[in-house]
Amino acid sequence: MAIEVIPTGAALGAEVRGLDLSKPLTDAEFEAVQQAWYDHIVLLFRGQKIDDDDLVRFSARFGELDIAPASATDMAGGQALSRPEIWIISNVVENGRPIGALGDKEAEWHTDMSYVAEPPMASVLYSLEIPDRGGDTSFANMYKALEELPADLRAAVEGRICNHDASMTSVGELRAGAEAVVDVRTAPGAKHPVIRTHPATGGKSLYLGRRLNAYLEGYSVEESERLLDRLWAHCAKPEFSWTHKWQVGDLLIWDNRCAIHRRDGFDGSQRRVMHRTQIKGRAPR
Ligand code: OGA
Ligand code: MN
Repeated sequence: MAIEVIPTGAALGAEVRGLDLSKPLTDAEFEAVQQAWYDHIVLLFRGQKIDDDDLVRFSARFGELDIAPASATDMAGGQALSRPEIWIISNVVENGRPIGALGDKEAEWHTDMSYVAEPPMASVLYSLEIPDRGGDTSFANMYKALEELPADLRAAVEGRICNHDASMTSVGELRAGAEAVVDVRTAPGAKHPVIRTHPATGGKSLYLGRRLNAYLEGYSVEESERLLDRLWAHCAKPEFSWTHKWQVGDLLIWDNRCAIHRRDGFDGSQRRVMHRTQIKGRAPR
């Protein structure tokens, strides 16, 4: 069966049909997937029946994998993970301990781990159990957001550096070992250019990380807050985004360099269990 790439019709995202990810991809198949990924930023593969080894093998075609850092292990409740490359995203609590990260609350717009010097270029999320409703995941196209940025705002951020706060998670919780930020100018984290160039596609995009405790270097706190509020309001416009409603067996891969994502909250009495990998990236430039 030939590979089919079916764009969502929204600002980003495409479904890829005709691949069984429980089997290794041929080089030709991988090249087609990678090109589709560069073109569409987020790819969806439905109806996959894969185990952690398959998930790791597929993810590793894109590059070296990150292993779950100490903070993720803490968030995962110290669970013995099946293998260090697999992160669990779940609200399920077993024996009084969460089996994974992010719980059941809304996760605000963010890009993964931009608060480190070399953030992961991509994340892969595979659904094992999903609630009846809620927990949808949305993505927004940051190439488009930059293209359509009002000229005065673009001039204000061109060549600027933003500090990406490391203290808070996307569900608004303090990370293990972090202290609450009292002054955004001294928040822990990593400093990256607001506009970055994708190393593979050459496209320029906004790279904002997350809103909370962010700081635009070289501005007063007041001015930085004002600019960041405008930037985030712009990026969150529906015309830049696509929302995925999960089914069991869905696998998504997204590009953290040129997309942000968020997740709706859901009924905490229902189970949501996803396995995830992260592909290492380089310092944004
Ligand atoms: C993530 C994430 C969203 C979701 O894994 O990085 O933001 O839908 N997950 O669980
Ligand atoms: Mn995320």
